Amino acid sequence: MKISIFGYGNIGSALTKQLTRAGHEVVLSGRDLEKAGAVASQYGATVLSIAEAAKASDVLVLAVHFDAVKDIVAAAGDLSGKVLIDPTNPLTADYMGLTLGYSTSASEEIAKLVPNANVVKAFNTLFAQVIDQGAEFGNAQASGFIAGDDAAAKQTVGTVLTSLGYSVVDAGGLVNARYLEPLAGLNIYLGYGAGRGTQIAPTWLAR
Ligand SMILES: NC(=O)c1ccc[n+]([C@@H]2O[C@H](COP(=O)([O-])OP(=O)(O)OC[C@H]3O[C@@H](n4cnc5c(N)ncnc54)[C@H](OP(=O)(O)O)[C@@H]3O)[C@@H](O)[C@H]2O)c1
Repeated sequence: MKISIFGYGNIGSALTKQLTRAGHEVVLSGRDLEKAGAVASQYGATVLSIAEAAKASDVLVLAVHFDAVKDIVAAAGDLSGKVLIDPTNPLTADYMGLTLGYSTSASEEIAKLVPNANVVKAFNTLFAQVIDQGAEFGNAQASGFIAGDDAAAKQTVGTVLTSLGYSVVDAGGLVNARYLEPLAGLNIYLGYGAGRGTQIAPTWLAR
């Protein structure tokens, strides 16, 4: 699959590494194409401007802080029909709380910015260090939670997660990003606040 990633920080780099490894064609983009190039060249990804990267792929990843999404959207042009993977968590400055929730979520606010795109929450409960190292934890696979309102878009994102080895958990409509963002908050607390480190991931068991 051809996938454009906006942002070449922790999440953008880890996804570029694992998506290229899984055989996807990755376009990396952001506001500094030299920085994007430094990451892309390590993994055989290509670099395009934000507008070109948005045109180039049907699946786009918003690997930037929630507050920066509006800048990406403004530079991207027409996003009609695009699958927009949203890993963002609207974190407070100390990373120990959320700046919005309960009656909305980062994903729903992004969907308001780009009503013609298909926003799917995914990857937000996975530390970048987990994405970088891969989905396997011994014999178990980390869960890849998805929430979104378009069935085909969710199917596409599920295929991406499966290709990386995650066990897909369909968490329902985009409104349930209101649950997935606090779940990421708990994960961040456990990893950093409680000192358990970043090789942890929330996983849903069934029997
Ligand atoms: N890190 C994690 O473990 C983790 C886990 C789950 C979800 N997330 C979420 O994933 C997103 C990315 O996190 P991260 O840790 O990868 O962040 P990061 O390492 O700080 O990278 C942020 C990226 O956003 C770019 N950026 C910042 N402001 C921008 C703007 N105004 N316009 C365009 N690009 C801008 C930065 O580019 P410059 O270098 O040019 O500023 C950089 O490429 C966040 O929403 C975060 O909540 C993170």
